[in-house]
Amino acid sequence: MKAKMTLAKEFKIGTIDKRIYGSFIEHLGRAVYGGIYEPDHKTADEDGFRTDVIQLVKELNVPIVRYPGGNFVSGYNWEDGVGPVENRPKRLDLAWGTTEPNYIGTNEFMKWCQKANTDCMMAVNLGTRGPEEARNLVEYTNHKSGSAWSDLRRSHGYENPWNIKLWCLGNEMDGAWQMGAKTAVEYGRVALEASKMMKWTDSSIETVLCGSSSRNSKTFGEWEAQSLDIAYDSIDYVSLHQYYGNHDGDTQSYLAQTLEMEEFIHTVLCVCDYIKAKKRSKKTINLSFDEWNVWYHSNNAPYERWSMAPPRLEDIYNFEDALLVASMLITLLRHCDRIKIACLAQLVNVIAPIFTEIGGGIFRQTIFYPFEHLSNFGRGVALNPIISCPKHDTKRFTDVPYLEGIATYDEENETMTVFVVNKSLDDSAVLDVNLMDFGGYKPIEFISMDGYDKNAVNGFDNSCVKPHKNAVPVMDGSIMTVQLKPFSWNVIRLKKNESLY
Ligand code: AHR
Repeated sequence: MKAKMTLAKEFKIGTIDKRIYGSFIEHLGRAVYGGIYEPDHKTADEDGFRTDVIQLVKELNVPIVRYPGGNFVSGYNWEDGVGPVENRPKRLDLAWGTTEPNYIGTNEFMKWCQKANTDCMMAVNLGTRGPEEARNLVEYTNHKSGSAWSDLRRSHGYENPWNIKLWCLGNEMDGAWQMGAKTAVEYGRVALEASKMMKWTDSSIETVLCGSSSRNSKTFGEWEAQSLDIAYDSIDYVSLHQYYGNHDGDTQSYLAQTLEMEEFIHTVLCVCDYIKAKKRSKKTINLSFDEWNVWYHSNNAPYERWSMAPPRLEDIYNFEDALLVASMLITLLRHCDRIKIACLAQLVNVIAPIFTEIGGGIFRQTIFYPFEHLSNFGRGVALNPIISCPKHDTKRFTDVPYLEGIATYDEENETMTVFVVNKSLDDSAVLDVNLMDFGGYKPIEFISMDGYDKNAVNGFDNSCVKPHKNAVPVMDGSIMTVQLKPFSWNVIRLKKNESLY
């Protein structure tokens, strides 16, 4: 197929908030225990954190990590996880049917964040608990000293406050599976009071209101409208969650689901702006897409109830999943004017790009790579590329473009990167990229993932699905011509007037 892309500085969507490359660690499965924390592992540091995991988290360049849940947070007593470890209680976690030992809690996780060069997006329990415990946690983590909770932190050995800036007001409070699930009005009230009191404790923080647990939730739309109507003045973002799976083996429909994601984002923005208009407010609510990924491979995996950190949600991702993850991240970037935060759910072992073996190795899942490329090269400003390419119909969608792409431009470093997924199973594409007013920009690197069976996966002994370098595309005037292989992920890096090497 032949395709065209036009790029111009005027096609700016917005400045990319680095937090769009966030991720998520929940006390679930082997995310914490056997994931980030494994004191007996040969790479463990003095705090018991696996340094091989930290190394890969750094490769992903994740600026923020949501914690400690997820469904887990809706039954969590944060006080169980602070103070001397030997005094911490073991609790039944009703969300996942396991036993939580509380070896890792707030302070340990904050230490891990420092080691992994990331910030924490902290979630509070608005399921079984409420505004009081939430504001106490803000005081514990963020207040310098001279109050009961801040002095308790100091007595635990943490003299300086952690200054956590971003807070989730509960998790998926619309879902029947959630401990302490609520109606939109019940939740709106609790979220408003929690947010108010948390901000009175520390006025520098931002808060995220729970939107619907997914676009398929029965109350989607109405939930956002009602809870926002109540909490609008105190909160800063509304959350979105979405996971996709290829349940019937229809790859083309599977990859086309970003059209649905696009509509999801659009609808939530419309609701936010409707409430803004209704209130004649000057304040704009932006979005936190704080759970997104592919999740379906592990759905029926058995586990031992009430065991500690059993393997749960351990999806092993294949090559087509990597293409969808790339497309989902591109979709988020297309809305970076309003999506300020997003979290790939999750980060280690549990529906994650990083996979470990207890006492053993580690590998990068297929989805690791598109995230790594976008997170490292997709900074600065997102440009809306005008793409003209053939479209097709799938079983579930019509008019699906074969190519999905975005470009990012870093004015300061005079670099630009073009990211494109070719969703066609059989057709390569000759893509002419018109660089318009990007005079002097030349391609310096072309990375791609292609040629793999759509079901190919990585493993401890077999990490075959990975990126490779190609010949740098040719330029003719302002036109850069790129050959995109069928069913491929492509990253073309450009720099003004010089080679990086
Ligand atoms: O990420 C796994 C789970 O998915 C989270 O705990 C929950 O918020 C969502 O339903």
